[in-house]
Amino acid sequence: MDALRTVTPLAEARASGFAQCLLDGLSRTPKEIPCKYFYDEEGSRLFEAICDLPEYYQTRTETALLARHADEIAALIGPKAEIVEFGAGALKKVRLLLDAAAPNAYTPIDISGDYLLAVTRALAADYPNLGLRPVVADFTAALCLPPLPGVRARAGFFPGSTIGNFKPDAAAGLLRRMRAGLNGGSLLIGVDLVKDPARLHAAYNDAAGITALFNKNLLARANRELEGDFDLDGFDHYAPYNPAARRIEMYLVSRRRQSATVCGHRFDFAQGEAVHTEDSHKYTPDGFAQLAARAGWRVTRQWRDVEGLFLLAWMESV
Ligand SMILES: C[S@@+](CC[C@H](N)C(=O)[O-])C[C@H]1O[C@@H](n2cnc3c(N)ncnc32)[C@H](O)[C@@H]1O
Repeated sequence: MDALRTVTPLAEARASGFAQCLLDGLSRTPKEIPCKYFYDEEGSRLFEAICDLPEYYQTRTETALLARHADEIAALIGPKAEIVEFGAGALKKVRLLLDAAAPNAYTPIDISGDYLLAVTRALAADYPNLGLRPVVADFTAALCLPPLPGVRARAGFFPGSTIGNFKPDAAAGLLRRMRAGLNGGSLLIGVDLVKDPARLHAAYNDAAGITALFNKNLLARANRELEGDFDLDGFDHYAPYNPAARRIEMYLVSRRRQSATVCGHRFDFAQGEAVHTEDSHKYTPDGFAQLAARAGWRVTRQWRDVEGLFLLAWMESV
């Protein structure tokens, strides 16, 4: 694994990207912080805790779909494959594919570098014969992965409905770039579906308050990495469902008039002022197929749970 590890000046690159985006986002009206910065090591751990919440149906529904259809998916992946996972997180779901398809290689890509390397080490212990090359990178950038010896085909894996975090035009652009990076390979993607707004609202407003902690991790991270002095109790987590736009919108709302300093820059917040931190777009199966088509993909197989909560789509390059 170490031989294939991508070495980057991690802390520096991550901190400076975060600093730039934070200063830029907090200078805008309305204020915003890109959601990819949720994910430092603490954010990745909080996301894992979210995945286990009773309200968060997404993870268990997608995992059950993967388990139920693993053999069919393995046949589509084929022999001597490399699985490339975008936004790989805890590397849990992929184990179902590794067991069923026995690929030659697995390339997990994630922006949360320390966490990715820790979970990859654990995976390597369980799959000693698998060629592993963890890549610490922003998957929105063009993907340039050298071919691996002995690998015949590349299959992309993009679970967790992370595609929902992109506005439709940006999502189409991302899927187009992934298509180029996969060199003609297919893509298995998990998509959260449009459903009862109350169910969606509950999933992003859990009773235990873990999603609120995850949202506030943006400010906590700024305090840890960028000499910030945000008062975490001075902001509320707010995540309504916008049915017209078919998306959850996540905000941090200032509880009072206050100011905070980060990287030596002072920002003022009015009482009730919102900082936009994430969108999570929901799709119908047809709506998603149309989005995929804009990016040059054709959905050739799809699987849904009986309640119609979540979609797994197998896509091939047109
Ligand atoms: C919603 S979580 C999904 C995690 C996992 N794939 C799953 O299905 O449970 C999104 C994951 O993508 C990663 N991520 C988010 N934005 C990213 C980006 N721009 N580039 C690379 N990784 C990113 C996060 O660190 C996180 O692990």
